[in-house]
Amino acid sequence: MIRGEPLSLSSLLSFCSILLLLLNSIINVAGEDPYRFFDWTITYGDIYPLGVKQKGILINGQFPGPEIYSVTNDNLIINVHNNLPEPSGVQERRNSYQDGVYGTTCPIPPGKNYTYTLQVKDQIGSFFYFPSLAFHKAAGGFGSLKILSRPLIPVPFPPPADDFSLLIGDWYSIDNNRLKAVLDYGHKLPFPHAVLINGRPNGATFTVEQGKTYRLRISNVGLQNTLNFRIEGHSMKLVEVEGTHTLQSTYSSIDVHVGQSYSVLVTADQAAKDYYIAVSTRFTSKVLTATAALHYSNSNQPLSGPLPPAPTQLDWSIQQARSIRTNLTASGPRPNPQGSYHYGLINISRTIILESSAAQVNGKQRYAVNSVSFVPGDTPLKLADYFNIGGVFQVGSIPDTPSHKPMYLATSVMAADFRAFVEIVFQNHENIVQSWHIDGYSFWVVGMDSGIWTPDSRKEYNLADAVSRCTTQVYPRSWTAIYMALDNVGMWNIRSEFWARQYLGQQFYMRVYSPVESPRDEYPLPKNALLCGRAVGRT
Ligand SMILES: *[C@@H]1O[C@H](CO)[C@@H](O)[C@H](O)[C@H]1NC(C)=O
Ligand SMILES: *[C@@H]1O[C@H](CO)[C@@H](O)[C@H](O)[C@H]1NC(C)=O
Ligand SMILES: *[C@@H]1O[C@H](CO)[C@@H](O)[C@H](O)[C@H]1NC(C)=O
Repeated sequence: MIRGEPLSLSSLLSFCSILLLLLNSIINVAGEDPYRFFDWTITYGDIYPLGVKQKGILINGQFPGPEIYSVTNDNLIINVHNNLPEPSGVQERRNSYQDGVYGTTCPIPPGKNYTYTLQVKDQIGSFFYFPSLAFHKAAGGFGSLKILSRPLIPVPFPPPADDFSLLIGDWYSIDNNRLKAVLDYGHKLPFPHAVLINGRPNGATFTVEQGKTYRLRISNVGLQNTLNFRIEGHSMKLVEVEGTHTLQSTYSSIDVHVGQSYSVLVTADQAAKDYYIAVSTRFTSKVLTATAALHYSNSNQPLSGPLPPAPTQLDWSIQQARSIRTNLTASGPRPNPQGSYHYGLINISRTIILESSAAQVNGKQRYAVNSVSFVPGDTPLKLADYFNIGGVFQVGSIPDTPSHKPMYLATSVMAADFRAFVEIVFQNHENIVQSWHIDGYSFWVVGMDSGIWTPDSRKEYNLADAVSRCTTQVYPRSWTAIYMALDNVGMWNIRSEFWARQYLGQQFYMRVYSPVESPRDEYPLPKNALLCGRAVGRT
């Protein structure tokens, strides 16, 4: 019997911060910016996504969870009641005390509630949240987060007739605790059973009026598979990626890697009928496909005929990734061009090379970064740091570059200086597409290519209009390079978005440190912070 599951409804509010922000305004979670209140009850309940009963995580009875609709600078007050028999927590970006990943935050104990306060300061765009602890993500508890521009800020396209969220992801008909047990026993995650679009393998319907243009926000909330997204007979104009307005290029389909979000515009400019929306696994020998309908309101012709074809070449995906660029003249969350901050002219203060690997440790499957397979400490790292609790982690317990040692377990934390400007290279020697995410930050994806990265690879970097986002893919036997301004003090998780991989160690923390303790640079410990591990009873 499960006696109690903590919930970290780590809302993956991937708050990619766009530029060096005025952090002093962040701590003013008051002022004139509007408040939005949410009251969420998290429970287990029966869901039937594949037609048979399984246990899902519901938020206020809903699967997927409710959408959070907000406007730049809104204060979101989310009171989360954990009625799972397990602890939980909501993750929020920017304040690493409330980040919702175990390294920073204590989960909400079963039967308790906790109120998260966050401000979507200087943010726009499409994101999602999900539960981060254990293997809760496999059971639901995810939902979309939309941050709209403030009324007077120009948006580089006309207001769409409607704005749809599409949460797509691979799905297992196995209970999340069983999946977790598979991993705990030392096995790999099996191949999924299906792909879902808003909780269904088929049948979701998006109604459009002929002649009008719609915004679709597509997020991959799945556990491990890249998904290709396409609509029969319609092209898509890409307008936004995780908070950055992009050059408006047109695509017939889009590869959405795990953890990523894309906004596209679709014009209902075809004959009145119903068209397939198809979402299928990429780079897998067996292909799983989910469908939905783009239904013209004046259509009386149901879905019929073959599904639109998916691309098959890996190279197609790389070409597409390189074509996604920032529209430098468009506004971001503020009424100034996104290109006003010249990331390409800043000198790099440090280069970090991160290599993933898979191996058995003590007879169990593990994954690692630079040979270190992360294991959580007995106390959330951020709290151990704050209360000066020794023996939880050691700064410097993961090297900046691959050590090529045999894989070992540690509570890996890398030191970093506040205000440093770093280059991170994700080197992938494995034969799978990977997806990496950094909490609390967005970064410029300056380059990606096949083979091994060398300093010479910098010659092919895009130093003019790379896209700024918080989740990037790394192709098989390839590298991806990013630039990141460490403008956010805290303890931040760098991890694989492949949920089994992060669960089994492909993650670590970066401690962005400033010797000057200032509320301008970091949120203070919230007064209502949950304390656990050896932080219990500390003040
Ligand atoms: C728990 O919820 C109640 C109301 O439902 C609220 O008054 C209280 O502040 C919440 N507690 C925490 C710790 O958020
Ligand atoms: C870039 O943004 C500007 C300003 O909103 C807009 O006029 C232009 O069409 C956009 N260009 C592209 C290629 O997306
Ligand atoms: C970058 O470094 C070069 C060489 O050390 C120096 O000349 C230049 O001024 C630096 N640029 C900036 C923006 O700091």
